[in-house]
Amino acid sequence: MEIKTVGVIGCGLMGAGIAQVSAAAGFKTFVLEVNEDVLKKGIGRIDKFLTGGIEKGKVTPEQKATVFANLTGTTSFADLKDCDLVIEAIIENVEIKKKTYAQIEAVVGTHCVIASNTSSLCITELGAGTTRPDKVAGLHFFNPVPLMKLVEVIRALATSQETYDALMTYARAIGKEPVTAPDRGGFIVNRLLVPYLLDAIRCLEEGLGTVEDIDNGMKLGCGYPMGPFTLLDYVGLDTTYYIANIMFEEFRETRFAPPPLLKRMVLAGHCGKKAGKGFYDYSK
Ligand code: CAA
Ligand code: NAD
Repeated sequence: MEIKTVGVIGCGLMGAGIAQVSAAAGFKTFVLEVNEDVLKKGIGRIDKFLTGGIEKGKVTPEQKATVFANLTGTTSFADLKDCDLVIEAIIENVEIKKKTYAQIEAVVGTHCVIASNTSSLCITELGAGTTRPDKVAGLHFFNPVPLMKLVEVIRALATSQETYDALMTYARAIGKEPVTAPDRGGFIVNRLLVPYLLDAIRCLEEGLGTVEDIDNGMKLGCGYPMGPFTLLDYVGLDTTYYIANIMFEEFRETRFAPPPLLKRMVLAGHCGKKAGKGFYDYSK
């Protein structure tokens, strides 16, 4: 199975990065959004990253041109008809993802692989909702996609060897280091990372320290590139809240339960950097 044309559903924090690295590696890439405004914002995110990369001397103008030559933004599923692989990177909600897979299956060929960038959902369940469970798998990228080397490739119970092999090959072709992860909520990285992030919120609620002090503690004391609150704002508090609920549902362990403050921040719309406000204020 050879992957030449790739579709990415969602051009948010993750979809924009996935579309960028796919186009940069020479794949003809289509990125789909719900409307033109959101699409424009997502393409703008790619443009900003590449322009910043040129300023830093990390990206050449030719590399930027390659990305935009290979990338087409769209709001129409019909444009995905020739895709060999469609990577879904939309909201962390099983029912919305299933509906989206039906829309994908209505246009793509029978050979097309559907991969989810889900952080925590059951890949076997996502596959079971399609007519091609053997061609469904998880392909879990890390934020920011262009800079983080890892991709978790998740085999569901029904995922075929051919699908798994094609995704391992694709991950390497876009310059990532793939690891195989089991179809268990949170896979490998989030199984460890999510309880840590939720614990930081619990510590804040208990008055252990300020946001800044806890962040500095982990950054300066442990050498983490970002403190937990900077990272929570970066990932998105809405996404973290969805993930926590899904992992709590899966394992029924309190360490995965979303702390009350997280829920309230999401309800208030303080969803982190993308919303202009989270644990920190980004409005300026
Ligand atoms: N184009 C190209 N290269 C760029 C760039 C750009 N626009 N911007 C930065 N870079 C390069 C820099 O040049 C630098 O490269 P060198 O190391 O070769 O010098 C490197 O990227 C790091 O950049 P900076 O030094 O500017 O920035 P930083 O040191 O502050 O690092 C970061 C930024 C990589 C995001 C770092 O803070 C980090 O690793 N944070 C943690 C991120 C993380 O944990 N992500 C996982 C989130 S969880 C998840 O994704 C899973 C889930 O399901 C929720
Ligand atoms: P996001 O909110 O930044 O972006 C999601 C995008 O999907 C939005 O732009 C939205 O308009 C679009 N969308 C929603 N429904 C759609 C539909 N039916 N069709 C097309 N587009 C649709 O979210 P994100 O952070 O990019 O997360 C997307 C997925 O990636 C989630 O499953 C999440 O768990 C996973 N993920 C997130 C991170 C992270 O750090 N944020 C890391 C790894 C994986």
